[in-house]
Amino acid sequence: MEAKGKATLTYGDGKTLEMPVYGGTIGPDVVDIRALYGKTGLFTYDPGFLSTASCGSKITYIDGDAGVLMYRGYPIEQLAQHCDFLEVCYLLLKGELPNAQQKKEFDSMVTKHTMVHEQLARFYSGFRRDAHPMAVMVGVVGALAAFYHDSLDISNPEHREVSAFRLIAKLPTIAAMAYKYNVGQPFMYPKNGLDYTSNFMRMMFGVPAEEYEVNPVLVRALDRILILHADHEQNASTSTVRLAGSSGANPFACISSGIACLWGPAHGGANEAALNMLYDIQKQGGVAKIGEFVAKVKDKNSGVKLMGFGHRVYKNYDPRAKLMQETTREVLDALGLHDDPLFKLAMALEKVALEDEYFVSRKLYPNVDFYSGIVQRAMGIPVSMFTCIFSLARTVGWIAQWNEMISDPEQKIGRPRQLYNGATRRDVVPLARRG
Ligand code: CMC
Repeated sequence: MEAKGKATLTYGDGKTLEMPVYGGTIGPDVVDIRALYGKTGLFTYDPGFLSTASCGSKITYIDGDAGVLMYRGYPIEQLAQHCDFLEVCYLLLKGELPNAQQKKEFDSMVTKHTMVHEQLARFYSGFRRDAHPMAVMVGVVGALAAFYHDSLDISNPEHREVSAFRLIAKLPTIAAMAYKYNVGQPFMYPKNGLDYTSNFMRMMFGVPAEEYEVNPVLVRALDRILILHADHEQNASTSTVRLAGSSGANPFACISSGIACLWGPAHGGANEAALNMLYDIQKQGGVAKIGEFVAKVKDKNSGVKLMGFGHRVYKNYDPRAKLMQETTREVLDALGLHDDPLFKLAMALEKVALEDEYFVSRKLYPNVDFYSGIVQRAMGIPVSMFTCIFSLARTVGWIAQWNEMISDPEQKIGRPRQLYNGATRRDVVPLARRG
């Protein structure tokens, strides 16, 4: 990397340090602080990484002020309109969109890996029937490593490739099995004549006793949901995957750690939380109670947040939220649910929030999760599966980022430092003499 400028730090009693400044293709420049500690004995302090670029990446770009999201340079709106999910997977992994032949080969490779080892099915019976599917996903995806000891050499590109195919192909099977176990229905084997998303819907909603009829509107909507969630640069779960992978951990362990992080309500769990929030408002009286709810959100002592609103990076409308709102409308229309009360409530709540000084001054806009729960619920997907679906979509992003990290010559084990403010050295008083 060639420096485009320098930044000078003055510290101590007038000492200075010059640090190189690098520019990306778009987005903010970065100050390279790697030499800082060695030369000055100082650390930087940045909890939550508000100002820290943890890596260089060519995969996803977000302009949070303008509300722009691009995968490999392509705007999310165009990808959602023109591509299917596996095309987007190809793009994220390989950097270019596939031609027809490449797509055919890629789809066929994914399809070949959709089944899971029969022994893996036995894992499920170790869980309680009411286990949250995300708890099951964390365990089962991590356990995949135990089945593929032959291909866990992360320095071997072929091993990395086959692991990527296995993860992308098996996540829908594993997620659908978590659901089937929960409702006490038999697991459905994948049917490889179907496309990726139809296959997932059949494994979720089909039963062996009946033919499953694919609804193309719902499949297209779910495929679009997968595209919108496929990657989002260095978010919490992706950074978790990169950090786990930086130690040389195998890809199944890394993706499992990403799933664990995604589960949190401030991250992927927000769609579940947003829908539960709408249910609560609905129970208390619906649209008429929005004012009361918003007042509670604004009261810092209440601990209540407007779920599905706000984002670390977007200080404008999340472009995914716009597409998700459109998709929600399409699905509700296709299902004859034009008057869905939750959708109406969500739109009314959004309107009130967007006109309220609290949200305006903090640049809080709807994020992808504000509408995604409504559309998934309308499709018959149970609330507890929402984050699972997010995780199966994000798996490709995690793998692309993990691969990029492994191929990066500047990659080192992730090892942040700290500002220690605990006790200074002291001596242990034996228990008998402690007051
Ligand atoms: N409701 C009410 N107030 C909020 C909200 C919200 N949803 N989000 C942020 N604020 C307030 C926050 O209290 C703070 O106020 P003040 O300046 O008075 O202290 C200000 O806005 C800035 O917020 P922040 O917490 O410093 O922002 P952050 O970047 O640390 O957090 C966030 C981002 C997404 C965790 C947060 O906005 C949030 O908790 N939102 C609700 C959960 C949610 O919808 N998450 C999904 C994110 S998108 C999908 C994904 O990436 O997984």
